[in-house]
Amino acid sequence: MTADGRTRLHQTPEWAALAKHREQLGEVRLRELFAADPGRGTDCTLRVGDLYVDHSKHLVTDETLRLLQELAAATDVFGLRDAMFRGERINITEDRAVLHTALRAPRDAVIEVDGENVVPEVHAVLDRMAGFADRIRSGEWTGHTGRRIRNVVNIGIGGSDLGPAMAYEALRAFTDRSLTFRFVSNVDGADLHEATRDLDPAETLFVIASKTFTTIETITNATSARSWLLAGLGGDEKAVAKHFVALSTNAEKVSGFGIDTANMFEFWDWVGGRYSFDSAIGLSLMIAIGPDRFREMLDGFHLVDEHFRTAPAESNVPLLMGLLGVWYGNFLGAQSHAVLPYSHYLSKFTAYLQQLDMESNGKSVDRDGDPVEWQTGPVVWGTPGTNGQHAYYQLIHQGTKLIPADFIGFARPAAELSGELQAQHDLLMANFFAQTQALAFGKTPDEVRAEGVPEELVPHKTFRGNHPTTTILARELTPSVLGQLVALYEHKVFVQGAVWNIDSFDQWGVELGKVLAKRVEPALTEGAEVPGLDASTAALVAAYRESRGR
Ligand code: F6P
Repeated sequence: MTADGRTRLHQTPEWAALAKHREQLGEVRLRELFAADPGRGTDCTLRVGDLYVDHSKHLVTDETLRLLQELAAATDVFGLRDAMFRGERINITEDRAVLHTALRAPRDAVIEVDGENVVPEVHAVLDRMAGFADRIRSGEWTGHTGRRIRNVVNIGIGGSDLGPAMAYEALRAFTDRSLTFRFVSNVDGADLHEATRDLDPAETLFVIASKTFTTIETITNATSARSWLLAGLGGDEKAVAKHFVALSTNAEKVSGFGIDTANMFEFWDWVGGRYSFDSAIGLSLMIAIGPDRFREMLDGFHLVDEHFRTAPAESNVPLLMGLLGVWYGNFLGAQSHAVLPYSHYLSKFTAYLQQLDMESNGKSVDRDGDPVEWQTGPVVWGTPGTNGQHAYYQLIHQGTKLIPADFIGFARPAAELSGELQAQHDLLMANFFAQTQALAFGKTPDEVRAEGVPEELVPHKTFRGNHPTTTILARELTPSVLGQLVALYEHKVFVQGAVWNIDSFDQWGVELGKVLAKRVEPALTEGAEVPGLDASTAALVAAYRESRGR
């Protein structure tokens, strides 16, 4: 209980009930759970849209799920959800509404922020984006010298990069292959250099994506891109208007940078950066896949929004996924969560989720500013299977850590693969199914012995099993399915933030580094004295300067 009489999360009876249940459950064994209930493999599954979600291989019983749902009720997860969908200012530290769900609402929906329906604005921007995307794709929009645009370079970082870059990769099979797309984020000049070195400026469009238009990495890269363009096109400043567009909430900064606001696609402060790729931030993606496919993706998001908003607790997939994470993180001591897509096209999916999850729920004070006394967001990590199998799966199978994992796979390969490459899909998916089976059920010492393994090797070849996984299976990776998947994770992250009573929508933790970088930079370039620089950093700066011959 706090001084002002609030009961904190870990003091609630629902929390205590889960802790007690954890003790009583002891070391629950998946082999036993499956043996005791032949229906588990089909009963413990849910469907949302095109996604088949199997949660049978989790270290939970019906009682665990019931108690977790009681915790969700006690922490009013659905109340906060409804406040979010209503446009209330649930991002309390920034005093903002959280309305990424409005970005994919149908045209006739009514969602109000401060008494104003935002849906018409959302669709007006989407329509402008569609018009622009069509003009690029058709060749109607030409560069300064009259040549058509063949290259699109998105410059942004964090949510202004990861979302569009991930989705472009995911939906490559749906992209216009006559156009080249590059995504530049790193302030390391090598990133822009590699992205532009083989491009013709006369055929290149830069899409400058920045919610605030103050992010130093993006503004620095955009400035260098402008120099590159002008150097390649004879220095005529008028070229900028044909080769630069901006995606931002900050019209003043955009025009201050020299981009005509006629070439700006706007969004709003109620869209968090990591929730923004279905806003104007998705312009590069829309150019790549076309407006119709982009809208299909938004419809996929919306489908899961509606599911999250209306499905009862027992069948609400984001709620379930969020609560399972709470179970492992808060009651079984898991520190991390692996997301392992069995699709080459999802090679950037986990990196995208890292920002979504870790920037949202990497918090250590609650919504009242009191230190949390419970674990919050996990370390999210992973790369596409089967590559991970030959790298770090050893540790998941036989290491000492509890690592819950999501396996994401598709029944059908991309249509454009040749027959032989299509056939490889079964091998990929055989690995997909085999891994969750091995993780769950392992191999006992007796099973190892039965294979004639010498006794001294038995412990080494034994698989303890009992490693929990969720399997998410869809027919095919389409724009809609991608939208469904991302929305699923967005709402999962929401659920966890609500249970932990943290503000999942701010990101103050990235500020200090930004301020210090600005302070240190003059020390690197000019050898300026930085007041209060610690001894370690001062010595590192000196070594750096020496190596640079300064
Ligand atoms: O990393 C901090 C952050 O503010 C992210 O939340 C955001 O996605 C990123 O920087 C980029 O910000 P902007 O779109 O304003 O350039």
